[in-house]
Amino acid sequence: MKGAVTRGKIATHATGMLVVFTYEDKETAEYKTVEKALKAELAELKKSKEFEGKKLQAAMLRTPKQKFKKVLLLGLGKQKEMSIETLRRAAGSAAKIAREFSAELTIPFLASTSVKGLSEAVQAITEGLVLGHYRFLQYKTQNLEEIKFLKNFTILVEAASQQGAAKKGLERGMILSEAANYTRDLVNIPAMDMHPASLEAAARKLAKQHKLGFKVFQAPELKKRKMNAILAVGQGSAIKPRMLILEYKKPGAKQHLIFCGKGVTYDAGGYNIKMKMMEYMKDDMGGAAALLGMLSALAQLKVKAHVTVIIGAVENLISGDAYKPGDVVKAMNGKTIEVLNTDAEGRIVLADCLSYASTLKASKIIDIATLTGAAMVALGPIAAAVCSPSDKIAESIVAAGEVSGDRAWRIPMWDDYKEDIKSDIADVKNLGFQFYAGITAGATFLQEFVEKPEKWAHIDIGAAVFEERERPYIPKGATGWGVRILTNYVENN
Ligand code: BES
Ligand code: ZN
Ligand code: ZN
Repeated sequence: MKGAVTRGKIATHATGMLVVFTYEDKETAEYKTVEKALKAELAELKKSKEFEGKKLQAAMLRTPKQKFKKVLLLGLGKQKEMSIETLRRAAGSAAKIAREFSAELTIPFLASTSVKGLSEAVQAITEGLVLGHYRFLQYKTQNLEEIKFLKNFTILVEAASQQGAAKKGLERGMILSEAANYTRDLVNIPAMDMHPASLEAAARKLAKQHKLGFKVFQAPELKKRKMNAILAVGQGSAIKPRMLILEYKKPGAKQHLIFCGKGVTYDAGGYNIKMKMMEYMKDDMGGAAALLGMLSALAQLKVKAHVTVIIGAVENLISGDAYKPGDVVKAMNGKTIEVLNTDAEGRIVLADCLSYASTLKASKIIDIATLTGAAMVALGPIAAAVCSPSDKIAESIVAAGEVSGDRAWRIPMWDDYKEDIKSDIADVKNLGFQFYAGITAGATFLQEFVEKPEKWAHIDIGAAVFEERERPYIPKGATGWGVRILTNYVENN
């Protein structure tokens, strides 16, 4: 979908679909302008109570006598409760309704709309449209001609002074939402076509496209570097594990941020084979995919930053070669891990990624992983869990979530839980006590492989990675969680 900012007036701008936002308790200037042209029609609509401007309520009118051929009214609810996220969601709904009736739409901003905040509003609308419009069609073959698309949208501004801010918002919104849609694609692709070698190919392609540094440690190199943890998890697969290292560096960066991503391209659980949700486990590389999307956004936005991404790409399967419950593996930092459950493999993979990250000079290390089902129980799909010994890092991640729309919530890391990951025969075990404090247990384990925990945070997207229902701008399937929040975090930290 293409977007553009155009200067003009509602009455004289030709479009197939005009989208007008308005409040429940106050009509917006845009609504009032349209009302002047459509007095009778809108009076009738008001009387019918079919549309009252309630949050995400929608109504469509055909207006053949106007330059705009249809009007889609979208409610934003009460003005006081309006947020940038409401706008994003309303735009998501608008995209899904509008595409059934028109290949293009126009969203107007009158000169009376305050220019302050215009850029953020246009960005949110763009994100809502592009994210809401997303569908994963790569594997569909039938009746494709019946699927309708929006091809273009126009942000119509009245005053020249609005153009700059609107263009900036549009450009940011496009980059962030298209990067998130790229991440969604990577996650939605079935594991048969997105295995460690294909994840490597995707990362290589991205690196080439954006001139990023790119390095792969193949299995012999992993062995040489004593990365036996990631090797153990991948032992049961014919496609060998590998570590992918990408680097984005722009002059002027104050810090070196390192991100580690769980790239388990399929998680059958290993010998502790999954009893449920195995059909979702192609999404177990969602952390890695989010980091690739973030790199794409950072490069296009030309953010002044130095960012290294480390991805553990591996498949967790069963075979005569697979690692077994009870095995003890030694991670790169020398610590031994007793594998009490082969399905808690993400933390084993990350043990080597974090050990390696700790050898590079990092200002901060953040890992992102579909680590636990416990994240589903604690928060559901609408937020990821953040664990960090540092209040400051945890708080700035949560804050980036509020601005970007990728929500995050902090889960404590009390020291008490360190006891629970002690092993009888090795340094640590990959399980906590029973299923208690699952998110914290995972984070407490990971902390053992970070040299400076006070500069580290862990993000568990076990639930946020995938949506089984549908939300206004999040279709069923991969959510793309992480691209918008992490890009925002890098820009502001
Ligand atoms: N990839 C899963 C976590 C997961 C499960 C994400 C369901 C999304 C949906 C992870 O590798 C896993 O299996 N974790 C175990 C850990 C447990 C054995 C300590 C879990 O959460 O059940
Ligand atoms: Zn698992
Ligand atoms: Zn997993």
